[in-house]
Amino acid sequence: MTTSGLIVMASHPDLAGKTAVVTGGSRGIGAATAIALARNGVAVTVVGRDRSALDGVATAITDSGGQALAAVADCTSKADLDRVHAQVLDRFGGVDIVIAFAGGYGQPVPSAAETAEHWRQVVDSDLTATFLTISTFLPELTASRGTVVTMASSAGRQASRAAAAYAAAKAGVVGMSRHLANELAPLGIRVNCIAPATIENERLRRVMSDEQRDQLARTYPLARLGTPEDIAAATLFLASSASAWITGITLDITGGSVMP
Ligand SMILES: NC(=O)c1ccc[n+]([C@@H]2O[C@H](COP(=O)([O-])OP(=O)(O)OC[C@H]3O[C@@H](n4cnc5c(N)ncnc54)[C@H](OP(=O)(O)O)[C@@H]3O)[C@@H](O)[C@H]2O)c1
Repeated sequence: MTTSGLIVMASHPDLAGKTAVVTGGSRGIGAATAIALARNGVAVTVVGRDRSALDGVATAITDSGGQALAAVADCTSKADLDRVHAQVLDRFGGVDIVIAFAGGYGQPVPSAAETAEHWRQVVDSDLTATFLTISTFLPELTASRGTVVTMASSAGRQASRAAAAYAAAKAGVVGMSRHLANELAPLGIRVNCIAPATIENERLRRVMSDEQRDQLARTYPLARLGTPEDIAAATLFLASSASAWITGITLDITGGSVMP
């Protein structure tokens, strides 16, 4: 890694020829992860709600010689996921890797102003969607003795300014991932979780000026914000056989801001 934060991503030859489903693949961390998987020879289905963003990621992959399918779904909807499941099987015939990264909605909401509707939306989008995604592809993961990587957040690991609903949902992802790792280990399926602190994405660049982001970066022990590629590199490690004896962990990728 350079001091400017540009990372040199390891390659994982064992991933070549595998198939992956990446939810949240239309932008940000999920898109970077989908592209990194494709560079390692993985056929990738990117899932999100924004058709044109998904097509952009899939085209970037196919233009570089990779294989990609763009599948529109709201991952809180089991019917949508079942449709994606059918599309993936039709196109690729199986699934080895599920990357359940769809989610978000970490913006601070004072608990006094929280509504039941917003609470449920956040828990649905961050926690329920993650479970539904994994359970939808369990038959294929069982057949392939596959791997799953889920997305928590530092907000689920320690107190933060994020909404209580987001903290609860992401802590739920940590607990659910550990539970599934234990439950599915006898089937040869590994489940690991990633818990990033602030990752610079389009949304952060929209809501914070360069100066505000620099100021925030200086609060991190490693003195920078994370990048989608930081998360993609760790995800590829957890999806590959390089981590063959690792399951049930939560990897804090936080520039040193979370040291449990
Ligand atoms: N950025 C950070 O600082 C940070 C830190 C910790 C954890 N995370 C987590 O990392 C994940 C990705 O975040 P990001 O920073 O890359 O944010 P982003 O750029 O806003 O991307 C969010 C992704 O999730 C998808 N998504 C959200 N709700 C969905 C739903 N119901 N159904 C299908 N897709 C859905 C979006 O798809 P569409 O737009 O196509 O609908 C998009 O691809 C989230 O789970 C977030 O909580 C982010």
